Amino acid sequence: GGAVAGIGAAAAIGADYALNRSNTEENTAPSTPMNGDEKVPFFGAHQAGIDTAAQAHGVFVGLDLNDGVDASALVRLMRILTDDAARLTQGTPALADSEPELALSPARLTVTFGFGPGLVARADSAGPGWLAPLPAFGIDRLQPEFSDGDLLLQVNGDDPLTVAHAARMLLKDARGFATIRWTQQGFRRAYGTERPGTTMRNLFGQVDGTTNPEPGTKDFDQVVWAEDGWLAGGTGAVIRRIRMDLDKWDRLDRSGRDASVGRSIANGAPLTGTKEFDEPDLEAKTAIGFPVIPQFAHIRRARGDDSERIFRRAYNYDERPLGAEVSESGLIFVSYQADIERQFIPMQRRLDELDLLNEWTVPIGSAVFAIPPGCAEDGFIGDSLLS
Ligand code: HEM
Repeated sequence: GGAVAGIGAAAAIGADYALNRSNTEENTAPSTPMNGDEKVPFFGAHQAGIDTAAQAHGVFVGLDLNDGVDASALVRLMRILTDDAARLTQGTPALADSEPELALSPARLTVTFGFGPGLVARADSAGPGWLAPLPAFGIDRLQPEFSDGDLLLQVNGDDPLTVAHAARMLLKDARGFATIRWTQQGFRRAYGTERPGTTMRNLFGQVDGTTNPEPGTKDFDQVVWAEDGWLAGGTGAVIRRIRMDLDKWDRLDRSGRDASVGRSIANGAPLTGTKEFDEPDLEAKTAIGFPVIPQFAHIRRARGDDSERIFRRAYNYDERPLGAEVSESGLIFVSYQADIERQFIPMQRRLDELDLLNEWTVPIGSAVFAIPPGCAEDGFIGDSLLS
């Protein structure tokens, strides 16, 4: 009896599998809503992909404009890119989509465009003042193949196939105007692995992103959105590729790991607290008078005054190692702030002077972009600069 029942169950599972695998219209009606159908609005005061709850996958592409691309060519380029980004994010194929089926599951796809110093110069415009490569820091070992660029495409989504397709469609649009300078691919937990809103972990195992302004609050708006000139409603983006030496990190014990940041690896709580969102007490001392959160701890060094705050939205990367190491991993550190000079640079300067994490991390790429505001349905991204 048991054997027969077993065969029946296997057959039922088989039938179910066949149904779910089918791509035909009549068989795909799902009983529960699928994340693939989720859309993030494209048009609005701000570009999506910044205050959007971070999706599982991110592709960042830095492009160099071709010689001769002038202000009027930039208008044409940004109109085409805007049009296709608007379609793709809403689950509609691009205008000349070569694989339209791949566009049908947006899975919270967002496309965010950024302008480097070179693009703003081609538009015969200037500013903001911070739109330039960051000053050189002592810890930097920057490689040109991960640095700078005229135009940023930031493509985020919960499905890697959708993200790859969207990036390719947009790059085909940009062909003739620009060439790829660098591409960086990153990831967080897959959609559904953890409860939405769980702070991400990086490949050191650290809870990364706890102290961060919260999208939808006045605080977030003040930290992130610029208010002046063509950038009003936009922001500044810093993208740093930071290598994390996992092989060296392996040799550090648990208490050393906790001390390097000033938070527990287990749950991200500050060393002076028990829960992730407990406020760190930077004054607390041990019985023998040492600070509980060490002087060299990353959170002590990163924390500045109120005007020096940033919004972090990083992705992990994990590439093929060269040589004898077993990993080539790190963080695509991404931060948004209204004014990079005022908010980001002092913080990075402090971390350059002292931060125990520097023992295991090396910045190998760095790029700065102005992220223009969002646009209306009859406008295009960058219209406040270009028209
Ligand atoms: C906090 C990791 C690079 C700025 C943290 C925390 C971790 C962490 C684990 C504590 C939890 C949290 O609040 O997110 C890392 C790693 C890095 C890195 C692994 C490099 C691979 C940077 C850089 C900056 C930065 C380059 C800015 C220049 C901050 C800030 C905080 C923070 C502002 C919050 C500090 C506070 O509590 O006020 N980071 N970080 N981090 N990090 Fe980093």
